[in-house]
Amino acid sequence: MSKVGDEIHADNGSWTFAGDISNVFDAHISKSIPHYSDGEDLIAKISDFFLSKDSVCYDLGTSTGEILFQIAKRQKNKKTTLIGFDCVPEMIAKAREKCAEFPNVSMIEADILDVTLEPCDLVISAYTMQFVKPKNRQMMFDRIYQSLNWGGGFLLFEKVRAPDARFQDMMSILYSNHKAEQGFSPEEILGKTDSLKGIQEPFSTQGNLDLLRRAGFGDIMTVFKYVCFEGFLAIK
Ligand SMILES: C[S@@+](CC[C@H](N)C(=O)[O-])C[C@H]1O[C@@H](n2cnc3c(N)ncnc32)[C@H](O)[C@@H]1O
Repeated sequence: MSKVGDEIHADNGSWTFAGDISNVFDAHISKSIPHYSDGEDLIAKISDFFLSKDSVCYDLGTSTGEILFQIAKRQKNKKTTLIGFDCVPEMIAKAREKCAEFPNVSMIEADILDVTLEPCDLVISAYTMQFVKPKNRQMMFDRIYQSLNWGGGFLLFEKVRAPDARFQDMMSILYSNHKAEQGFSPEEILGKTDSLKGIQEPFSTQGNLDLLRRAGFGDIMTVFKYVCFEGFLAIK
């Protein structure tokens, strides 16, 4: 198995969030995604505009529950129902531990393709849809749109591909440089890239906008963008 950084090992095309990764996940994602904590902070601040005391908010692919933890702290007077889903039991265990002080937060071990989303005011998907097989992705966007109350928000943060080959080359190099600056070795950077083959499939900005529009969203704005990472806010 190749080294991919932070004591994580993975084979070619075999990246997984299962196992011991949950112990080092928070550090790994902060180093791997530029301005990760700024994005997380922005998501929590944007939640102010959508959540009131009887609201339901879903976090799809919650990992260790960091985003819902930030929202729970920020919205502590509203007692909003916050529900995180992740298919990895070790992630859900960490997320429950992290959010234990907030009785309004539930962490559920489930595949997001199998869950029924109840009417809600905010859905968050941060760097998760890129791991949903392209053949299932539109269905997920359709379900999110259908579950949102009118005026509800969908915060979609993703790795995105560039609009053409020249830009993609530049963005890939900038991103590799970023990882090197974060302390990942060339072997780890290549090992991670190899491990994600066929597992992570980012769409372009336009590809994500097309998914959102086909689902029914008309009002969409980019709220975060850095090199190959983008955050969209779509309002029903
Ligand atoms: C990159 S991490 C998300 C990080 C997290 N949203 C955050 O910002 O801290 C992707 C997560 O999505 C989960 N995931 C991927 N596909 C899933 C699926 N079909 N159902 C449930 N969880 C899924 C993985 O287990 C992983 O924890």
